[in-house]
Amino acid sequence: MSLVQDETRVRAEEALRSVRVRCMACGAAARADRPAGQCAVCGGLLDVVLTFDRPLARDEIGAGLPPALRASGVWRYRPLLPALPSAAIVTRAEGNTPIYWDDRLARFAGLERLGLKHEGHNPTASFKDRGMTVGISHARAVGAQIVACASTGNTSASLASYAAAAGLAALVLIPEGKISGGKLSQTIAYGARIVQVQGDFDQALTLLRQLTEAYPIYLVNSVNPFRLEGQKTIVFELLEQLDWDVPDLIALPGGNLGNTAAFGKALDDLWNAGLIDRLPRLATIQAAGAAPFAAYFASGFDRYEPVVAETIATAIKIGNPASTPRARRAIERTDGLVTTVTDDEIMEAKAAIDRAGIGCEPASAASLAGVRRLVREGALAPEAKVVGVLTGHVLKDADAVVDYHLHDRDGRPRPGANRPVSIPAEMAALERTLADALHG
Ligand SMILES: Cc1ncc(COP(=O)(O)O)c(C=O)c1O
Ligand SMILES: [Zn+2]
Repeated sequence: MSLVQDETRVRAEEALRSVRVRCMACGAAARADRPAGQCAVCGGLLDVVLTFDRPLARDEIGAGLPPALRASGVWRYRPLLPALPSAAIVTRAEGNTPIYWDDRLARFAGLERLGLKHEGHNPTASFKDRGMTVGISHARAVGAQIVACASTGNTSASLASYAAAAGLAALVLIPEGKISGGKLSQTIAYGARIVQVQGDFDQALTLLRQLTEAYPIYLVNSVNPFRLEGQKTIVFELLEQLDWDVPDLIALPGGNLGNTAAFGKALDDLWNAGLIDRLPRLATIQAAGAAPFAAYFASGFDRYEPVVAETIATAIKIGNPASTPRARRAIERTDGLVTTVTDDEIMEAKAAIDRAGIGCEPASAASLAGVRRLVREGALAPEAKVVGVLTGHVLKDADAVVDYHLHDRDGRPRPGANRPVSIPAEMAALERTLADALHG
């Protein structure tokens, strides 16, 4: 899936010389011709530096690209991405995801209209593919042989797929017993080496950061600024789909906060490129049992305390989000909001999304649950123009669906649940079971 197999490494290195990263803590800048996990001076988080000598025109997006890049909902925004050499790019035509406008879900949220951009339509069924295509392409450009992540499941599935496509070895650290079967099976299928850590996600990430500092292994977690560059394209594509009519608010779930950070950077870049003249507010929604960023926000960004995370939404079960300073910057710049929702609110919102025929995994439903809460609390007016992001596909966590519909938390049948029934293989039994429907 590499685009130009025969372009030489030397040319790739030359192309990389123009790409720079800068530390958001101390301002030190560096070339991006090596893995870029953290600032070499102070250990701070890095941003990819993009500068625009002149305003970009909207019709420059997607223009003059080879078909494989034009087909990608990430690489078609190439003027708004780091200038990685074409020879290094590994793409699976990621992105190009729909926005659903469903009246029932708008009513559920208490809004007149609500868009839900569904990132579960990506090749490995979560938004992670958008960041992964850029992260793995940068890894190839710098000559990495082994790529690695710690993951609550979706990053590992995406990393495993893109590493396989690129012909790189992949290593994945996951918290043992704490990721869904669907995500684990994707990661196994695509051939990553999987190490289950007897601890939580935060411990797995700490271990991996130590490993990648000591050995030549390329870290692809969202501390890596190239991942975030790809994830920016959720916002680019969303705005393009709205004909650049900027919404009042974009809501998304927050775990490790890479996506919140990426959305903030996307808006900065669009602003600097002259493509928008107004910013939407960002709203990051955390699960109540995994909400250190919401507490930090509530303190006026004065006191930050990591927590031991607990939530049914395993994808956002993170107690010490690595991108916290970047996410704070994004919320501050957009006059954004951070709120929490309970597991019950998440599952209720998920059931509504599923029943609308759309479906998503539990963490994704935090977007809708959070918007509903913001409306109820008066922080968001019913006529506000809002787009929520659904981050992963319903099949990512099939157990969560079946468990929800089989019984409630006390083991009792859940009212309104869609319980499959069992019958002997006989027509009479089928008619008895369907009596209501057959006889009106
Ligand atoms: C489905 C899903 N939603 C939301 C998130 C949270 O994204 P972030 O860690 O960038 O805050 C994740 C992260 O793993 C995820 O897999
Ligand atoms: Zn620094």
